[in-house]
Amino acid sequence: MTVVTRGRRSRHGAAVTAAVLAAVVAAASGCAREAGDVGAAQDGGVVHVACGATEEWCAATTKQFAKTSGVKADFVRLSSGEALARIQAGKGNAEFDVWYGGPADGYAAAGDQKLLEPYVSPNAAVIPAKYKDASGLWTGVYVGVLGFCSNGALLKEKGLSAPRSWADLLDPKLKDDIGIAHPSTSGTAYTALWTQVQLAGGDEDKALAYMRKLHPNVLQYTKSGSAPAQMTARGEVAVGVIFSHDCTATKEAGFPGLQVTFPAEGTGYETGGVALVKGGKDPVSARKFVDWALTPQAQEIGAGVKAYQVPTNPAAKVSGKVVDLAAVKLVDYDAARAGAAKPTLTKRFDEEVAQAPKS
Ligand code: G6P
Repeated sequence: MTVVTRGRRSRHGAAVTAAVLAAVVAAASGCAREAGDVGAAQDGGVVHVACGATEEWCAATTKQFAKTSGVKADFVRLSSGEALARIQAGKGNAEFDVWYGGPADGYAAAGDQKLLEPYVSPNAAVIPAKYKDASGLWTGVYVGVLGFCSNGALLKEKGLSAPRSWADLLDPKLKDDIGIAHPSTSGTAYTALWTQVQLAGGDEDKALAYMRKLHPNVLQYTKSGSAPAQMTARGEVAVGVIFSHDCTATKEAGFPGLQVTFPAEGTGYETGGVALVKGGKDPVSARKFVDWALTPQAQEIGAGVKAYQVPTNPAAKVSGKVVDLAAVKLVDYDAARAGAAKPTLTKRFDEEVAQAPKS
């Protein structure tokens, strides 16, 4: 077993604007916030959301939901593994009514543990079958594609260009120069791990062998999936393995030198979900939240707060900054299978590659 963190480095040449960074870092941190109490009396309820999207999107979404529905809403931003653990800990006395955002394999894993309440929203009818669970365990609200986020200046210093394959990431010249989250805490990193399983034809041993080969090049396994975007922007690492939209957002937040590329072998994608938490205290408000989250109006909020995922509702307007799914080679990503494998595969990662970061 090996150590997770090998310390941070700073590099000159990486122009960092403190204010811009603070804004980007804030987007990935987890704190609770309440949004609007407009007309709460109409419903008499409040919806507590475990939110796996970026902090800004969680805030904008709960605020807009409160305004539109008259139901109070608050949220806690949690990475996928953390959300699952918190929902599990709340069994019998649920802390949350709804889980919103973050890859569907986490929802599938929660479903396997009977932590979710199936709900087929009437608004789910328009969501394509590939982006929802048929029994209503979870329904997709966005799609994101895993990619590489590169600091062009750092790569140039090393005589490298942006990686275009998973094999490129194994180049010894990238020693300690890759940032990726840990799959036990992060849905992004679990997407990367399950992608390796798919590329290896379902062979989990081979997938873990790839991650072990990658390990010497990983400077740090972060808790949240989007954190390597800031590490790359700051020049701590040359490449971040993250959802491409998180790189696009960071680039737009003041780091134009960042470059998005995709692996030629094929890459994984997430279906960001929404689901009812079993035993939630206000199932009426929770259903209203799920219904609303599937509407074009709700799904169009993302682009206004630099969250450039693909909406799952075909009627939602799509920003020009969103990745073209047809232009990227995607692996077959079955959230139910990935979710079923998650407990054992992440345990193996902890034991065979690196321990999960402590909070
Ligand atoms: C970011 C991305 C989301 C993704 C989430 C997963 O917020 O913008 O698209 O669902 O990360 O978070 P995690 O920390 O679990 O990797």
